[in-house]
Amino acid sequence: MSDPGAIPFFDLTRQYQEIGESVRLAVNSVLGSQQFILGEGVKRFESRMTDYFGIPEAIGVASGTDALLLLLRAAGLSSGDAVLVPSFTFYASASAICLAGGTPLWTDTDPDLFLVTPALLEEALTSQAVRNASGAWRTRVGGHPVKGVLVVHLYGQVADMRAISEWAEQRNLWVVEDACQAIGALHEEKSPGHHSLGAAYSFFPTKNLGGAGDGGLVTTKDNLVAERIRSLRVHGSRQRYVHEELGYNSRLDAIQAAVIEAKLPHLSRWNARRRQIAERYTKAFSEQGSFGTPVVSPMAESVFHQYTVSFRRDGERDRVREALSGEKIGSEIYYPVPQHRQEAFRNMPLRDLPLTDRLSGSVLSLPVFPELTDREQERIIQSVLNAVSREGTKNG
Ligand SMILES: Cc1ncc(COP(=O)(O)O)c(C=O)c1O
Repeated sequence: MSDPGAIPFFDLTRQYQEIGESVRLAVNSVLGSQQFILGEGVKRFESRMTDYFGIPEAIGVASGTDALLLLLRAAGLSSGDAVLVPSFTFYASASAICLAGGTPLWTDTDPDLFLVTPALLEEALTSQAVRNASGAWRTRVGGHPVKGVLVVHLYGQVADMRAISEWAEQRNLWVVEDACQAIGALHEEKSPGHHSLGAAYSFFPTKNLGGAGDGGLVTTKDNLVAERIRSLRVHGSRQRYVHEELGYNSRLDAIQAAVIEAKLPHLSRWNARRRQIAERYTKAFSEQGSFGTPVVSPMAESVFHQYTVSFRRDGERDRVREALSGEKIGSEIYYPVPQHRQEAFRNMPLRDLPLTDRLSGSVLSLPVFPELTDREQERIIQSVLNAVSREGTKNG
């Protein structure tokens, strides 16, 4: 039994109470068909997704991580190539590069937007690589060819893809997007995948559009990229029992496709509700000086996968989190350990990332799921304001 006085960080059971019947019908229809691997259901789902994004190709795969891995390989990443990627992200943004045989080159993150910018990319590239006479970039340490950029749309806001793709084009680098947290988000009214080789999405259950298990999707304008991913997801094969290259078993299950398709008509409303909750938080927190609230570019429409604030004084984030926990209010830290400090990446080129380190010690995400009630949000706001004013009195 859940505690009636507690406010969870996230609660999928509320969504299921509302739309459970349509999800059960969708699953039953797959069970009735007994067609579980690709087939008509997955095709129809992919076509719904191309309509939703207004992009020509959508390919269902087994997870967001695989969406990144297959997209990176389709972009041409091969063994030894280096790719610029922020360290302030979920582990899979960087692990996908390594799993494809590549090397991550860490970029820092803008502390207001939580995103990369062309200036941060330029700093990351020129401090770690040099350009040769033919215009190709190679890393200073190890001499790896730098091939591309993986942009992460963290917390639900799309980075300035037009500016980033122009920057990358001038340097002969390709661009792919990690849109796992940004389904439905726009920049200059365009969804991810319009200014790059493609975008990777995740249907992990807690995402803005979640399945009943793992699932992922790649969207792209480029039919060659789409074709390659369709082959990579079935063992590198376009024709049965003929394998052109080493691929994966990475298909989106028909049952997952059906669940996500049943939820898709609700996505715009859910995202709008997240924006409403975010606006209310930002307004309520506008008078305090302890933490910064998330900045959304005027050109962007965020889907607030997370509502994340960033504390100014050392240690205050953890004390506020403890106070919230004492009042049974959920909060989370995304991400307490940046990727350049992970043991798994210990052999990758290391550099100082002061903005990233600072963010890892200062960010706190508050509940923002669509079914959060106004009364619950009011309690969260009051608790946060009480906690920071207690802190303020101590420090003042
Ligand atoms: C930014 C980011 N990239 C990649 C992933 C990986 O997605 P998945 O868990 O579906 O493999 C996630 C989510 O988990 C994510 O948030």
